[in-house]
Amino acid sequence: MRTPAITPVITLVFLLTGPALAIDLENGQDINDVCAGCHGEFGQGGGDSEYPRLAGMPAEFIAKQLHLFRDRSRPNMAMVEYIDERQMPDEDIRDVSHYLAGITLKTKLPPVDENAPDFDAYARLKASKQLMQIPRAEGDVERGEQLYRKECGSCHGDQGWGDNEKAVPQLAGQFTDYLWRQVEKYRNKVRIHDETDPDYELLNDFRDDQLKDIFAYLSIVDD
Ligand code: HEC
Ligand code: HEC
Repeated sequence: MRTPAITPVITLVFLLTGPALAIDLENGQDINDVCAGCHGEFGQGGGDSEYPRLAGMPAEFIAKQLHLFRDRSRPNMAMVEYIDERQMPDEDIRDVSHYLAGITLKTKLPPVDENAPDFDAYARLKASKQLMQIPRAEGDVERGEQLYRKECGSCHGDQGWGDNEKAVPQLAGQFTDYLWRQVEKYRNKVRIHDETDPDYELLNDFRDDQLKDIFAYLSIVDD
């Protein structure tokens, strides 16, 4: 009779490996308490575009950036103390990435009458924090849309909402100033834009006025 002896072994192996395989969104939410100090409770970002929006970003992209921060391959002084091996094991990276990816921010608030007797100013303020509304950036939106579709859409998605499988970030819904800062980082090879061709910085092929138009287009996608 050998089978009964195997069962506890299988149970033990399952206990050790099983939970680690399942995504734990509650754990992700707990970890997000720390991130919220900078990126906001709903991953809405802020600090005058210092802290990028994370809500709704493809989970694979968030996870990839956290690994790059942890490996010190992408510099981030602000996050350095939150992202060492001890603070952020792989499972935590996975959980918080999925938690943030699962947050959907509204693009519009329903109209309300602020003079109505049942108007709840606090609820309104809270709802406004969960809003994704990028201020319209200057530039030629039409030219930007054409350029975007031709040069960026194949990777960043039809309307700039990113691509989870390929770990490509959403550009629509992201602060324009934040995007510009990243352009500089790619151009200076502080970040690698396309890992399949690390030596080629594709944004170097675009003039600032072209990127300006692309970002103008991206800033109206959430209107
Ligand atoms: C002390 C402030 C601070 C805290 C806390 C913080 N971050 Fe950040 N994070 C930043 C800053 C600043 C940047 C932008 C860095 C840059 O400009 O390249 C950033 C960038 C990121 C990015 C890259 C986004 C993109 O589109 O490029 C991700 C992903 C991210 N943070 C996730 C997290 C998560 C998850 C946590 C919690 C575990 C967290 N951050 C905690 C300040 C913070
Ligand atoms: C070959 C696919 C590809 C193309 C084409 C492409 N991108 Fe990207 N882009 C990526 C990937 C992948 C990342 C994330 C790379 C990383 O890990 O830093 C990225 C990141 C970015 C970021 C940083 C966003 C953030 O939140 O950190 C900006 C800005 C950006 N791309 C702009 C553009 C623009 C503008 C175009 C068109 C002119 C473009 N990209 C074309 C694949 C592409």
